[in-house]
Amino acid sequence: MSATPLPDPRTRPSDGVPDGGVPDGGVPGGVTPGTGGLVDRHGRVATDLRVSLTDRCNLRCTYCMPPEGLQWLPKVEQLTDDEVGRLVRIGVEELGIREVRFTGGEPLLRPGLVGIVAAATALAPRPEVSLTTNAIGLARVAPALAAAGLDRINVSLDTLDRERFRTLTHRDRLDDVLAGLRAARDAGLTPVKVNAVLLRGVNEDDAVPLLDFCLEHGYQLRFIEQMPLDAHHAWTRNEMVTAEDVLERLSAAHDLTADTEERGSAPAERWLVDGGPATVGVIASVTRSFCGTCDRTRLTADGQIRNCLFAREESDLRTAMREGASDAELADRWRIATLAKLPGHGIDDPSFLQPSRPMSAIGG
Ligand code: 5AD
Ligand code: SF4
Repeated sequence: MSATPLPDPRTRPSDGVPDGGVPDGGVPGGVTPGTGGLVDRHGRVATDLRVSLTDRCNLRCTYCMPPEGLQWLPKVEQLTDDEVGRLVRIGVEELGIREVRFTGGEPLLRPGLVGIVAAATALAPRPEVSLTTNAIGLARVAPALAAAGLDRINVSLDTLDRERFRTLTHRDRLDDVLAGLRAARDAGLTPVKVNAVLLRGVNEDDAVPLLDFCLEHGYQLRFIEQMPLDAHHAWTRNEMVTAEDVLERLSAAHDLTADTEERGSAPAERWLVDGGPATVGVIASVTRSFCGTCDRTRLTADGQIRNCLFAREESDLRTAMREGASDAELADRWRIATLAKLPGHGIDDPSFLQPSRPMSAIGG
């Protein structure tokens, strides 16, 4: 059957997925750091902060980490809970951050997570606070997270087949993930979103079962194109499953129509399933990238600001903080780091170089 055409043009604000995209052009900067928010030279303003709370994970998704794991950050290099809290506070109070998403690695592995969430939700103006997780252990902690004020949750799940889950993640934990999903919904952390990455020859045929499962349970499914962020640099453009491939597969089982409702700032292109109201999202970070409307800024678990997932430079707030920098000085470093944000990720450019940190050490 023929591929479903993707709509054009696209505008979108942010959501719980990794960003990526080509420039739409932009307003030249002329911005001086020292006051105001996180503005770059292309006129974009970062209001959405992704905070990686650990680079560790209890899964080994093949597109992310080798089975033996990675060289983890030494504890002393990781921000303490108080240091995370301070930088999030500076982001919200001084720099116009309106959304805070905690990620990893796997953020549920961070012992202080509930306290970190509570500190973020106590800030004024109150940011929207969300979590991206693989949901292992979520069944136990979802009520405490909800009580700490967590607003929403995104769960990564790439297959519903137990054997395939084991092959894909090197761990036999599908049941824990499914229990975590239910617990998130029961705790009111809604809408519960499910993020899926499809790999050619591995789980492509999970597309329709994943959608049916999410429709049945009231979860919002989004497919994310695989990006070159794996630790072992195995990604190839020819091998990746594109948004168009996903839509073609879904269209074989469901009637999809472009959702014309204003999406706000979500990177997902949404499709009504069988006339709605249920939708499915497709995040074409590689083939239809959206850098031109990117509103993200990132803080790694070791206190580095990254202005892009694909940035090749970082700004070290941890050292500055530990050497006694004031809130104003830290805010200024953050502004300066933002100014240099490149217009796009350039994955399709022959000169593209993968960032030295893998996704698990940046935060999705
Ligand atoms: N490309 C796209 N998505 C990725 N994720 C992890 N690595 C990649 C990659 N290389 C996804 C995870 C999770 C979210 C944080 O990012 O599956 O849903
Ligand atoms: Fe862990 Fe997420 Fe990487 Fe999978 S993709 S190994 S769940 S950090």
